[in-house]
Formats: sequence, C-alpha cells, structure tokens
Amino acid sequence: METKINNNYDNLFEAINIYYKQGGRMMFWTCLNGCHDFVDWEHIDKINIATCRKCGASNQTVVILFRNSWNPNGELETSEEFEICQKYLPTFEFRSQLPENALVVGRHSVLPFFEELERELALKNSRLVNSHSQHKYIADITNYWEDLKEFTPKTYTQWGNLGEGQYIVKGKTNSKKFRWDTHMYVPSRDRLVQVISNLFIDQTIADQGIVVRDYIPLRRLGEGINGLPISAEWRCFCYKDKILATGFYWSNFEELSPGNLPQEGINFLKKITAIVSKKANFYVVDIAEKESGGFMVVELNCGMMSGLSCVDPNEMYGNLAKALAQQESK
Ligand SMILES: Nc1ncnc2c1ncn2[C@@H]1O[C@H](COP(=O)(O)OP(=O)(O)O)[C@@H](O)[C@H]1O
Ligand SMILES: [Mg+2]
Ligand SMILES: [Zn+2]
Repeated sequence: METKINNNYDNLFEAINIYYKQGGRMMFWTCLNGCHDFVDWEHIDKINIATCRKCGASNQTVVILFRNSWNPNGELETSEEFEICQKYLPTFEFRSQLPENALVVGRHSVLPFFEELERELALKNSRLVNSHSQHKYIADITNYWEDLKEFTPKTYTQWGNLGEGQYIVKGKTNSKKFRWDTHMYVPSRDRLVQVISNLFIDQTIADQGIVVRDYIPLRRLGEGINGLPISAEWRCFCYKDKILATGFYWSNFEELSPGNLPQEGINFLKKITAIVSKKANFYVVDIAEKESGGFMVVELNCGMMSGLSCVDPNEMYGNLAKALAQQESK
C-alpha cells in the first residue's frame, strides 16, 4: 500500500479498512520525525513494533540495562565499562528507569531471573535483545555443539563407552578451569571418572549437568595456576551476522597476548556467525588456534552475560550501537 495519507481522510479511512480486513488490530503510533505517513507493525513475542514507512524510524528505543557491582562496604563500584557504555547508548542501572517500547540489551543484568525480566519488560511493550529461548540455546553446549560439529570438539553427555584418549570435563555452561589438573583435564581414559566426580562436588556445575569433550591441543602461550594452559584464544562479540569486536581471551594474562585475531581466524568466525545468527541475536564466540593449525570454537556465550576479556569496550559498544541503529531503521 503505497498511498500517502497527506492529510486526506479518505486515504486514511481506506488504509484502516484494508488493515482491518487483513485481521489487523487498531494501533496508532506517530513517527517522532513527524512524517505523518503509514507505519508497518510487526509482532514479536507479544511485543508490537512499529516502523515508519517513510523514514524507517521505530517505536523501539535501544537501551542498556547495566548491573554494576557493589563492594563489601556497600559502595557502588562503577566500572570503566559502565562509563564507556554510556557514551554510545542510553544506559540504566535499574529496571524502573527503563523507558517503554524499549529494545533492552542487558549487561550482566539478566540472570538469575531471565524469564521474570522478560515478562516484566513485555508489560511495557519492551523486550530483551536475546529472547529467553535464544539465551538458552547459547548457554547450553548440548543445544549448539551439533550445529557447530565441524568446528568444535566432539561433546558427550554419556561416557560409558568412550575409548582411550584425552578429554576435558565441564558443566553445560561453566567450567572449573582454574582447577585444571583435577576438575577439567583428563590425561587418559582411566582418570575420567575421578575428574567427573571431583567436578560433581561443585553444586553449580552439578545443577547444569556435566559434559565430556574431546581434548584438542591448542597453541600454547603460557601456563596459569594448577596447570591451566593459556592458549591463543580470542573472544568475539557478534550481533546477528556482524562481528562487533574481538580481543585476546585471557585478560589476566594480557602480557601473553598473541595480538589481533588473524585474517584466517576472521574467515573461520564468519562461518560460525552464519550458523549462530539463525539462532540468537547477541552472542560471543570464543575461538582458539589449534596446535596442529587452524581454528576451533571453544564455546558460545550470551552477549548479555559475557565479560569483555581484552575486547576494547569502545569498539564493542560503538559497533553494537551502530548495528542496532541500522536494524531499527531497516
Ligand atoms: N576441548 C578442549 N580442548 C582443549 N582445551 C580446551 C577444550 N575446551 C576448553 N579448553 C580450554 O579450557 C578453557 C576453559 O574452557 P571453557 O569451555 O571456555 O570453560 P568456561 O565456560 O569456564 O570458560 C578454554 O578457554 C580453553 O583454553
Ligand atoms: Mg570460556
Ligand atoms: Zn518517519
């Protein structure tokens, strides 16, 4: 329907009638740029999103819900990340401060009550950048590893029949990597049950459920506590199929950094974003360089919950703001 309203009521009523015949509900939104033109409505997860047909403006405002941490004296520890984030997007610390009709990018603020937050936001016609089902897909390795099986170590939920070999053991979301020797790395099959039972004592990991993965030697840069290998790994923040920013994974070992992700790694990453962007919006891909050459995916993480590692916050938030603005005026 290309007709312009142009203050002509016949055109307006005709448009309303056509809309009704198509089963539409009556909703009005006036474009903030004063276009006085038609808007297109889209309904996603109970949220109504309007887009001005003339200028592309949306009724959705992009905002950040940022959880700061408090030190033991009850003082707010405003992080550098919080300061920088505000330069690029309207940033709020508390839910009650959020505007209506918002596309909310949570940062460290969506757990443990993700579904409750999602329902609360929907009351104000607002939504999170990843829905709860998208979040669940990324947060549980048993959901995504098969989609990425060409690119990531084989992952097992049953281990009775595993053959001789080296393995790693972790929870479906988190690991105890800082207790590498006893709670993660399995040097030979006969140690597997011992490492699994060590890990099982940790309540958080036991609640997630445990997986076993093939151990793939990575390009080693150094060693942390308890034998933890520090390898050539990069954290890559992505929005849909766009790479926002990448940086060395091990922020406590910045001096070991191998530099920027090489072009071969970027090419590898593009194959991964082509797959994951079909399942989630804002996510992190951790990739590593293998000792034998080439790259692998270590794991996926939710973009709303992942620490920055050595990723430049200006680059990440700057590109995130740009990517969200482009999509909001598509
Ligand atoms: N299958 C594997 N083979 C070799 N090293 C691995 C493997 N999986 C993880 N690692 C190493 O262990 C580290 C922690 O594993 P990860 O799955 O990322 O746990 P977490 O969720 O706690 O970050 C990785 O950064 C990587 O260095
Ligand atoms: Mg990790
Ligand atoms: Zn407009």
